[in-house]
Amino acid sequence: MQTAIRVVPRIVSCCSSLSKVPRPAQGRIDFFEQEQKLEKLEKEEKTVMANVKFMSGENVPLEMHKVRMVQRVNLLPVEDRLESMKEAGFNTFLLKNRDVFLDMLTDSGVNAMSENQYAAMMQADDSYAGSETFYRLEKVLQDMFGMKYFLPAHQGRACENIISQVLVKPGSVALMNYHFTTTKAHITLKGGTIEEIIGDEGIKINSDALFKGDIDIDKLNEAIARIGGENISFVRVEAGTNLVGGQPVSMKNIREVSQICRNAGIRTVYDASLLADNLYFIKVRDAAYKRTDIKDIIREIASFFDIVYFSARKLGSARGGGILTSSDELFYKMRELVPLFEGFLTYGGMSVREMEALTVGLQETLDIDVISQTPIFVEALCGELIKKGVPVVTPPGGLGCHVDARQFCSHVPQTQYPAGALNAALFIASGVRAMERGTLSEQRNDDGSERLAEMELIRLAVPKRVFTLSQIKYTADRLAWLYKNRELIGGLEFTEEPKVLRFFFGRLKPADDWAENLAAQFRKDFGDSL
Ligand SMILES: Cc1ncc(COP(=O)(O)O)c(C=O)c1O
Repeated sequence: MQTAIRVVPRIVSCCSSLSKVPRPAQGRIDFFEQEQKLEKLEKEEKTVMANVKFMSGENVPLEMHKVRMVQRVNLLPVEDRLESMKEAGFNTFLLKNRDVFLDMLTDSGVNAMSENQYAAMMQADDSYAGSETFYRLEKVLQDMFGMKYFLPAHQGRACENIISQVLVKPGSVALMNYHFTTTKAHITLKGGTIEEIIGDEGIKINSDALFKGDIDIDKLNEAIARIGGENISFVRVEAGTNLVGGQPVSMKNIREVSQICRNAGIRTVYDASLLADNLYFIKVRDAAYKRTDIKDIIREIASFFDIVYFSARKLGSARGGGILTSSDELFYKMRELVPLFEGFLTYGGMSVREMEALTVGLQETLDIDVISQTPIFVEALCGELIKKGVPVVTPPGGLGCHVDARQFCSHVPQTQYPAGALNAALFIASGVRAMERGTLSEQRNDDGSERLAEMELIRLAVPKRVFTLSQIKYTADRLAWLYKNRELIGGLEFTEEPKVLRFFFGRLKPADDWAENLAAQFRKDFGDSL
């Protein structure tokens, strides 16, 4: 049955026509040019998605699902939100869910599951070894990616552990478009280092590049010449590049990177955790793939890599992970580590029920209506914020809307964690929990000095099919209020700083009494409103 049907994406915005969006300031992306580019693509070839046009001309991200199960959420008064933030050490990871109104921390393990996923969970074959559930999952993955072997793992970072154990030697360098926190931690734990070779557009807040996650081919060639192929553990391409704003990687780039690596005898690894968003962008931003089946796009991508791995907390909207390869050598080396770190080869740390949900969730990734939902809601949130003058990463990517804390809190020095401060302030102002993606999420240099992040972002994740449009508008409204009152936001300093992945459970305090002042201003402006 044909269900899909969504407007061809616009770069801006859900709730207004483009003509109403003010022209961006100099140096920021020109949406108008970008819009024309996309419209040109659209005219060249009709997309598989039909249009749902609104009489008003508004570009509304229409949901192609209905809600059949709900969870109650609470919105605490601002004074209680301030208290919760203090208790959490100004770290949104340490907040209790019962104090959070809209949980935009991440999409990991919190995408809404479909009725078919829940139904599949009831049919799981519970056994330690040889479970039918595993063979169902293995078959779907082999078919989707066109790869020979599948090794299960309990989540994405567990795959990174196994891959690093096998491929990373002390002193080796892993090249990648951009690091992800857990990826880098596993590589450095094995004595390797990482080098980021993303294109310059990738780390610009505003750009008109449609695939900002692309590797810079000149940087790749230069790094291989300088480091030597034998000292490069692998080249890693991350789909939907997480830490630079959920930005996609183009097929052309993947093809070029793979050819160079194959010629130089360097292994290639694809992190497919954010593949769903990336697939959507390949389909709508690359004219060559508008008519290509999503499965064929996946198979083509996979054909360029020696190893594909993923977090199934993201890809497939369940919980778990896995590694795929067609190489006998790599398979046998990695296989030994699965029972050691994860569990037996037919579950790898996942519950059979989650494996069944994942099997169905992966198949649903082939549906454009499923994979478009997050990007079009991200686009809607970014569009609302741009209208209100709030600085966000553009073009909007997948995963979530990324606010530029460096511009937002330009008065807060980077050593006082502007993105962490903005993140805490947003929770106080709204009950919305987002995630810091800036200097706080970095590891210190070996000499103990701060490694200042290239981008200071807060990420408002938009998990699949979880939030409604009014919740998106509420979030934009509170962020706009915060932007108006941005001078009230001050810096943060650590009171407890873990050595590894400090952003997860580190505790901080405000540099002065700015958090109290912010809450007081909120009360003054909003009266008795929550
Ligand atoms: C791109 C990317 N790679 C790897 C991981 C790690 O996956 P997990 O959280 O399942 O360990 C994540 C998680 O957010 C991710 O976004």
